[in-house]
Amino acid sequence: MNTLTLIRPDDWHLHLRDGELLATVLPATARRFARAIVMPNLKPPVRTTAEALAYRERILAALPAGMSFEPLMTLYLTDQTQPDEIRRAHDSGQVHAVKYYPAGATTHSDAGLTDPARAAPVFEAMQRLGMPLLIHGEVTDPAVDIFDREAVFIERHLIPLMHDFPSLRIVLEHITTRDAVQFVRESPDTLAATITAHHLLYNRNAMFRGGLRPHFYCLPVLKREAHRSALIEAATSGSPKFFLGTDSAPHPRQDKQSACGCAGIYSAPAAIELYAEAFDTANALHRLEGFASRFGADFYRLPHNRDTLTLERVAMRVPETDPADERLPVPLRAGETVSWRIADGNAVE
Ligand code: DOR
Ligand code: ZN
Repeated sequence: MNTLTLIRPDDWHLHLRDGELLATVLPATARRFARAIVMPNLKPPVRTTAEALAYRERILAALPAGMSFEPLMTLYLTDQTQPDEIRRAHDSGQVHAVKYYPAGATTHSDAGLTDPARAAPVFEAMQRLGMPLLIHGEVTDPAVDIFDREAVFIERHLIPLMHDFPSLRIVLEHITTRDAVQFVRESPDTLAATITAHHLLYNRNAMFRGGLRPHFYCLPVLKREAHRSALIEAATSGSPKFFLGTDSAPHPRQDKQSACGCAGIYSAPAAIELYAEAFDTANALHRLEGFASRFGADFYRLPHNRDTLTLERVAMRVPETDPADERLPVPLRAGETVSWRIADGNAVE
């Protein structure tokens, strides 16, 4: 198979940022994906329906003429979020989910939940309305090794949450471990998971190859090879519980190449191509359409896209950004190649 035509894919986990950076990164996603679930971890976070609708307008205003793209908005859950806000979000028709960051777990998560018990009335309302809860599933307990934070979160927080709210619909975001794969597989259909391209393609060695490589640092951090191969198995299994979410998370170069570099891998400029490469290597290209274009929409109870995207097995070079401009984000594989490209040859902006 040298070409592959898919129902146009969607990205079920994306960071678009705001202002200049939003305008820089949005075209890469809109070129590939029809829709994306847009993360609310701005500074300050997107906490209310009004803020989500205003952010949505800024995204649409940043879209270059002639491109179409539908941002699917989310709210950022804080200790102060009220069930009324969930009702307003649901009624808006534009807010599709609520994001649960444990306070301090990752970039711009300091306003996150300090104790999930406080959010019980919110979870109750979401369960009633069928609104998905998107979870950054890592404990913040400094006594827990960073490579174990996802597995410990499942035991300490996710299992009790699912017990207390058995029909709450949950996406465990950007899973990175064999433990998470197994847990999602064995759970009821109320639980699904997104998987990034970088966690399918790289293990933790990538962060240390010949030196410290900040552009491979993200949260949850890359794990060892046995976990990567469990993720490949899950993504290519045909199970509708696993679907595409890039977690493309751009930061200005100066914030990555620093003594305390930010977490986040900017994969949008080659996102679907990287997934095609991962599925191709696993001899599972026939499973890419379900993972990229159908299972996520089904979970979110949205229609499949009507148009298509054709990929071809031709190496594409991911452009480097101007090394003199410290504000630009550096894409994954910048200056290197990906083995698939979008068929009309315009894969790279
Ligand atoms: O690596 C990450 N970057 N993980 C996250 O959870 C947040 C994201 C970001 O916003 O930069
Ligand atoms: Zn994210």
